[in-house]
Amino acid sequence: MRPRALLLLLLLLLLLGALRSGGSPARNVLLLLADDGGFEIGAYNNSAIRTPNLDALARRGLVFQNAFTSVSSCSPSRASILTGLPQHQNGMYGLHQDVHHFNSFDGVRSLPLLLSQAGVRTGIIGKKHVGPGAVYPFDFAYTEENSSVLQVGRNITRIKALVRRFLQSQDERPFFLYVAFHDPHRCGHSQPQYGPFCERFGNGESGMGWIPDWKPQIYRPERVQVPAFVPDTPAARADLAAQYTTIGRMDQGIGLVLQELRRAGFLNSTLVIYTSDNGIPFPGGRTNLYRSGTAEPLLLSSPEHPRRWGQLSPAFASLLDLTPTILDWFSIPYPAYSIFGSRQVQLTGKSLLPALESEQPWATAFSSQSHHEVTMYYPMRAVQHGPFRLIHNLNYKMPFPIDQDLYVSPTFQDLLNRSRAGRPTHWHRSLRRYYYRERWELFDCSRDPGEGQNLAPDPRYGHTLQQLRAMLLKWQWDTGDPWVCAPDAVLEQRLSPQCQPLHNEL
Ligand SMILES: *[C@@H]1O[C@H](CO)[C@@H](O)[C@H](O)[C@H]1NC(C)=O
Ligand SMILES: *[C@@H]1O[C@H](CO)[C@@H](O)[C@H](O)[C@H]1NC(C)=O
Ligand SMILES: *[C@@H]1O[C@H](CO)[C@@H](O)[C@H](O)[C@H]1NC(C)=O
Ligand SMILES: *[C@@H]1O[C@H](CO)[C@@H](O)[C@H](O)[C@H]1NC(C)=O
Ligand SMILES: *[C@@H]1O[C@H](CO)[C@@H](O)[C@H](O)[C@H]1NC(C)=O
Repeated sequence: MRPRALLLLLLLLLLLGALRSGGSPARNVLLLLADDGGFEIGAYNNSAIRTPNLDALARRGLVFQNAFTSVSSCSPSRASILTGLPQHQNGMYGLHQDVHHFNSFDGVRSLPLLLSQAGVRTGIIGKKHVGPGAVYPFDFAYTEENSSVLQVGRNITRIKALVRRFLQSQDERPFFLYVAFHDPHRCGHSQPQYGPFCERFGNGESGMGWIPDWKPQIYRPERVQVPAFVPDTPAARADLAAQYTTIGRMDQGIGLVLQELRRAGFLNSTLVIYTSDNGIPFPGGRTNLYRSGTAEPLLLSSPEHPRRWGQLSPAFASLLDLTPTILDWFSIPYPAYSIFGSRQVQLTGKSLLPALESEQPWATAFSSQSHHEVTMYYPMRAVQHGPFRLIHNLNYKMPFPIDQDLYVSPTFQDLLNRSRAGRPTHWHRSLRRYYYRERWELFDCSRDPGEGQNLAPDPRYGHTLQQLRAMLLKWQWDTGDPWVCAPDAVLEQRLSPQCQPLHNEL
């Protein structure tokens, strides 16, 4: 190119840049994630807990009543949130830390990678729990990888200071800030000195340290609301009361983060999303693909859509929708690429932004789980369509595995003790039924919220069963699920992928 042409091109680019920054103001995203949080929120009709900051956010946003995680385990869920791909497609089959050592495939193009390539500044404060680092790059990162997770994930004074630091940077680019609280995760397995939910960490008592911005809320066990899938016992109630206290700390932290956003002048240009990674850490919750293990709170607060503020939406949302939603907000297209071979990766989630304009007919959500801890291999695939939820337990002859964290919890220890002694468990299912499941489980969640009555063998639901099985199988093929033929056949890829029968009597 001749020097004059080059100069003209430069001028043109500068002009375009000026128009861009001078035209529509930058749009930003703040993603707030709870760790094992559930529906213990005023906005979701829990009247026993006080969550004024989440309730205020709900009044500035749309409240989803049918939002689901695609997997009920921490690292796999975070990886699927940050890629838009289910665990079997992004490779994060289980937990990331220590001996579990799961990672996403090197070729995955994650949300932070796509955003930074498109000129969006990215930050993470709190629990990261995904890898490898090159797949999940952040410009600004204070996580368990280089800080104490208690400090960056539960100390709300520290979190406030880090958010302020991120927002104060003199960077012109729009931003994506991901604040991943470690509250209200259990603590009994890792830091029992702070109580079963770390509810005493930073409360000012001797040896607990102090979190200056936190006013601890104490709850009486008799007053908590026990979810239908949790045993109603004094042990579980005490556990829930401790959980409420840590949710209160997170709620106050959310208030501080939003105040920082307002102070820095970004409240009116930022899409704020609140959700959680997986079910609550109680029997039937985390690690299960029952509705009780996958249903999540989801608040979507857009400054540009005040018409839907404070409204409820029954439309189905999946956490697989967050990547498409955030890309849509920034008008960034999803790239054409493949992770393995020539098969192009396609997002099966959708942008949720249309729900901010008007009610949507969405009625389907898929889930896929393989592990939690490395020892906890229990592959399941699930779909909920309207009121019906179908779960395929691939290795259903194995006992359902229990994680280390749940095992030592007062709720589970009490359940074991009661079951062993033949005393009433006050639980809606038996331990035996919890461990040994049918291959296909079909529930009508509208009539049977406890998911106690398996309709799969009932001929009256034969048509529903076939319809949901077909939907689930199609999604497995669409997402390149290596388990698509299991457990009665083997996937053979040569020429065209096909299931070859095993004749193993399943
Ligand atoms: C809370 O309860 C009210 C009154 O029963 C109901 O209309 C509303 O749908 C409930 N909210 C949620 C989030 O389920
Ligand atoms: C953590 O890493 C970030 C870079 O991502 C760096 O700015 C920060 O200083 C590190 N924090 C600590 C405590 O090392
Ligand atoms: C929380 O963070 C603040 C600010 O960094 C610090 O002063 C305080 O000691 C921390 N609290 C605990 C319990 O570690
Ligand atoms: C916030 O943004 C909306 C729409 O983008 C606009 O109508 C409103 O005036 C703005 N409010 C403030 C305080 O800037
Ligand atoms: C369960 O039983 C064991 C041994 O009998 C006892 O030490 C423990 O305190 C009991 N736990 C609960 C939560 O009841």
